[in-house]
Amino acid sequence: MTDLRLIATTFYGLEHVLSEELQILGAKNIRTGNRAVYFEGDLGFMFKANFNLHTALRILRQLKHFRQIYKAAQLYKAIAGINWSQWLLPTQTFRIDVTGQTRYFNNTKFAALKAKDAIVDQFRTIYNLRPDINLKQPDVRIVLHFNDQHLDVLLDSSGEPLHKRGYRTQTNIAPLNEVLAAGIVKLSGWQGKRHLLDPMCGSGTILIEAAMQQMQIPAAINRQKFAFQNWQDYDADLFELIKSTSINKIRELPAHIKLLGYDKAPTAVDKARINIKNANLDEYIEIEQADFFNTKAPDPNTMLLFNPPYDERLAVNIKNFYKQIGDTLKQHYTGTEAWLLTGNLQALKFVGLRPSKRIKMFNGKLESRLVQYLMYEGSIPKTTIY
Ligand SMILES: C[S@@+](CC[C@H](N)C(=O)[O-])C[C@H]1O[C@@H](n2cnc3c(N)ncnc32)[C@H](O)[C@@H]1O
Repeated sequence: MTDLRLIATTFYGLEHVLSEELQILGAKNIRTGNRAVYFEGDLGFMFKANFNLHTALRILRQLKHFRQIYKAAQLYKAIAGINWSQWLLPTQTFRIDVTGQTRYFNNTKFAALKAKDAIVDQFRTIYNLRPDINLKQPDVRIVLHFNDQHLDVLLDSSGEPLHKRGYRTQTNIAPLNEVLAAGIVKLSGWQGKRHLLDPMCGSGTILIEAAMQQMQIPAAINRQKFAFQNWQDYDADLFELIKSTSINKIRELPAHIKLLGYDKAPTAVDKARINIKNANLDEYIEIEQADFFNTKAPDPNTMLLFNPPYDERLAVNIKNFYKQIGDTLKQHYTGTEAWLLTGNLQALKFVGLRPSKRIKMFNGKLESRLVQYLMYEGSIPKTTIY
C-alpha cells in the first residue's frame, strides 16, 4: 500500500505527546507543527491511528497541496482539477470547512462556496447529478487549509472529532475534553506505578483516560463510526483486522494500583460512575463523594491530577478556593505529587506553593497552565508571581 500524507490535529501543548504516540504506533516521517503533527502511513495505518490515538482530535488525509492560490479563479481551478469521483459519490453528501490563515481570502465562507461550486460543476458535467451539502452529518468532510497562498486540500478521516469516544453519556458542568484529559495524563508522566487520585473528578474523564492509556485500550474502542468508512477506498476487512490486533494488546492494570475520584457534588459522583461503567472500567476506578478539603492522602505513593473549578460558576470565591487547595496539599498530602490544570492563571498564586513545573496549554481558546507541585516533606510554601 502506498503511503499517505496525514495530519493529526490536537490541542496546543499536546503536539509532542501526540508525536510520541504516533511514533510508538509506527508512523513514518513525523513532524511536529502547531496544534498538529504531520506524518505518513498507509491506509491501514490511517485506520489504526483513528482507532488508537488518545491525544488526536482528527486525522486528516492530504489530497493535494497548492503553492499559489491568491484568487477565487485559482481556487476554483485547483479544486476542479481534483478527480472528485474518486472520493465522493453523486449520491453522497459533503461539507467543506476552511481552516488556517490567508491574506487572500478574508471571507472563508466565500472560499468554501467557490470550492463547492467547482466540485458540484464537475459532478454535473459527468453525471448530470450532484452530491448535496449536509452540514450536520456529511458523508465526506473536505477541509481547505490555508497557510497564506499555500493551500492543502484534505479529507477528514475521523468525522466526529476523536474526543467523542462514546463512553461519556453524562457530563457535569465544565467537563474536560477527553483528548485534553488524555494529554495531561501523558504530560504528568503517570505510568501506573503510583495510585492516581482525581480529587475533583466531575464526570470522571481524567481517571477514565488514564486507565485506558495504561491498559492500552484503544481510545475509540467504544465509538461506532469514522468518516473513512464512507470512503470509496474503505477496506472493512482490513479495519476489522486492525481493530482486533489493537484490542489484543489490552493489558491489566497492576492489581495494587488504585484509581480514585472524589467530588463533593452527588450528581457528579453519579455521572462519573455511569461514564466509568460505559467505558467498562468500573472494576478499576472507584468514585467517592467527598470534599477534597476534608480528605487526607490515602497513601503517599499517590499522584493527584485534577482540573479544579476555574471561574465563579463553579467556585464561590476563587481566592479562598485555591488557597484551600494549597493548604490541603500542604497539610494532608505530604509525600504525594500533585498536578493541576487551570484556566485561571491568577488563581494559581493563591495556592501558595512553588510549582516544580509549569506547562502552557490551551483549553480551546482559554490559555491554561498545567502545574506540578511536589509535596515532599519539608517543601517550602512559596507565593509565585505569574
Ligand atoms: C472543572 S470540574 C472537573 C471536570 C472533570 N475533570 C470532568 O472532566 O468532568 C470541577 C469539579 O470539582 C468539583 N468540586 C468543587 N469543589 C470541590 C471540593 N471542595 N471537593 C471535591 N470536589 C469539588 C465540582 O463539583 C466539579 O465537578
